Amino acid sequence: MNKEVTYYYYIIYPKEKRISERKPPNQARAFTFILYWIREKIKMNSFIINTERLGLRRWLDSDLKPFSYLNRDPEVMKYYPKTLSDLETLEMVRRIKHHFEKNDFGLFAVESKGTGEFIGYTGFLIPTFQSFFTPCVEIGWKFKKECWGRGFATEAANACLNYGFETLKFEKIVSFTSALNINSEKVMKRIGMKYVTDFDHPQIEINSPLCRHVLYQIDNGKV
Ligand SMILES: CC(C)(COP(=O)(O)OP(=O)(O)OC[C@H]1O[C@@H](n2cnc3c(N)ncnc32)[C@H](O)[C@@H]1OP(=O)(O)O)[C@@H](O)C(=O)NCCC(=O)NCCS
Repeated sequence: MNKEVTYYYYIIYPKEKRISERKPPNQARAFTFILYWIREKIKMNSFIINTERLGLRRWLDSDLKPFSYLNRDPEVMKYYPKTLSDLETLEMVRRIKHHFEKNDFGLFAVESKGTGEFIGYTGFLIPTFQSFFTPCVEIGWKFKKECWGRGFATEAANACLNYGFETLKFEKIVSFTSALNINSEKVMKRIGMKYVTDFDHPQIEINSPLCRHVLYQIDNGKV
């Protein structure tokens, strides 16, 4: 955030008004920090999906740090091929933003209304690999460990399903995860998705214990 504040300082204060060229003085720092904070709050209030405890929205620059923390946690990443470096997280956020630009939907950043903090993501993506069930729209979720066991994933996913069927007019939504990822599979069941089959994920090495996946799906009730 420091970098952002400095960046705004150089935008807001014309050259002749800057006391120091290298470092914003405290007063200017405070002012630019307040502007930055207001900008973040305005953006934060524009939730696309609201639930009782959560706000789902597009991504903010300030999500990067807590998202990196989450992607570095071996427990959170237990059923992914590996943990992610900060650079890999940055690349992932870029891909998520690009997905939003291209399709008008994506993985939403999830914010706790109680604390105002970023706690994970839930939303949609279009898988890039080919399989017997693609092309399709997938629903996925990932939350920081401290937020597990409180029903957040189920709450966010239920709201996303409604948004997916009512607003985005999807006919069918799938979800898949490693067959070992019982907690994720439980979310699928809780939101009313039905088991379809097991399959080997084409992007995971066949000898990996993570290769075997479960596939679930739900339709809009009209197909
Ligand atoms: C998958 C993941 C989101 C599931 O998290 P979770 O906390 O188990 O799921 P929920 O947030 O829906 O919480 C449900 C649990 O909270 C409990 N709970 C507590 N308070 C609750 C409330 N107010 N409302 C609903 N459930 C509540 C439920 O009983 C349930 O516990 P149980 O599974 O022991 O029965 C989480 O494990 C995660 O982020 N994993 C890492 C990322 C990942 O693997 N993603 C999937 C990859 S495909």
